[in-house]
Amino acid sequence: MASKPASMSLPPIDPSKLISLSTAYWGSQTLLTANRLGLFDVLSSGPLRASDIAEKMSLDPRMTGLFLNACVGLGLCEKSDGLFSNARVSEVFLTTNSPASMQNSMSFMDDIYATWGDLEQALRSGQPAKAATTYLGNNKEQTRHFVYSMHDRAMAIGRALPDVVDLSGRKKLLDVGGGPGTFSAMLTARYGGLQAEVLELPGVADVAEEILKATAADDRVSMIRGNYHETEFGSGYDAVLMSGMFHRESAENCQRLIEKATNCLEPGGIVIVNDVFADADGTTPEFSALFGITMMLTADDGCVHADADVSAWMEASGLEDVTTCAFPPPMPHRVVTGIKP
Ligand SMILES: C[S@@+](CC[C@H](N)C(=O)[O-])C[C@H]1O[C@@H](n2cnc3c(N)ncnc32)[C@H](O)[C@@H]1O
Repeated sequence: MASKPASMSLPPIDPSKLISLSTAYWGSQTLLTANRLGLFDVLSSGPLRASDIAEKMSLDPRMTGLFLNACVGLGLCEKSDGLFSNARVSEVFLTTNSPASMQNSMSFMDDIYATWGDLEQALRSGQPAKAATTYLGNNKEQTRHFVYSMHDRAMAIGRALPDVVDLSGRKKLLDVGGGPGTFSAMLTARYGGLQAEVLELPGVADVAEEILKATAADDRVSMIRGNYHETEFGSGYDAVLMSGMFHRESAENCQRLIEKATNCLEPGGIVIVNDVFADADGTTPEFSALFGITMMLTADDGCVHADADVSAWMEASGLEDVTTCAFPPPMPHRVVTGIKP
């Protein structure tokens, strides 16, 4: 950037927003590296000195001290009398044995950290910086991170779905692009008599089956290997869930999927679309606007839609009682539902 002469008087605008945005990746990379190294599992067994942590984790002692101080500064760790321990948020969400562990979700964010570095190139080429096939089957490790990340996320912050959507009395759910099947597992556990089928790409379905078996949900939830654009949805369902997959599809594809979902339902059946949505002009909430960039970098048609558009598509498909409901914090998910007359 060319230098400009310094002005004699400073404008009365606070630049701290710019400073914090330009350095935000410092914090992200500290968190993701600590997660990758397994720091929070090491500290889970009790407080330790920096030198002991460095030794246990085969790290450079001087740098480890600086790194740990930054973890404390970020609120990930605590420090008392020279001993480091996990902050409560890290103990609950970043340790392997916690039922609310989000370690895999952090690993997936780690996998796409470098992808964000290619933002300019993507904007110039119009192509995603990372091929979705990498983490949807082709690269086994990244596929596992992705599928387990979806599972962790649903377990930790997606538990609200069965409260947000009432499936009482419903018997057969089709979960389109259902990933690990975790939402199906939660819904079928909550609503007795409900069975679910998860339509997924083969590489993801393999990992999902492993998760369903390990969580003893495989008697209520089964996998259908296929491609939701090409595979027939069949008939006889009284609920269709499409969660977290509209953000990888164009508006036209979303409309087609809503029509396919509507057609496979019995009268009175419900279509449920759950996702990160933006407000009508696409700029808010801030998380949603940034999520749109993450998706455009990692999927061919990646984007963020407005829930108002989904409502309109549902109405155009003939669905009635179209309703939007916000997920409870911290995730800005919204759930749009419509009933087949
Ligand atoms: C963000 S994940 C959401 C997973 C799950 N529904 C949830 O909300 O946790 C999107 C899912 O759509 C699946 N998917 C993407 N394209 C697909 C296609 N053409 N056919 C079937 N599944 C697809 C991906 O494999 C992935 O599991």
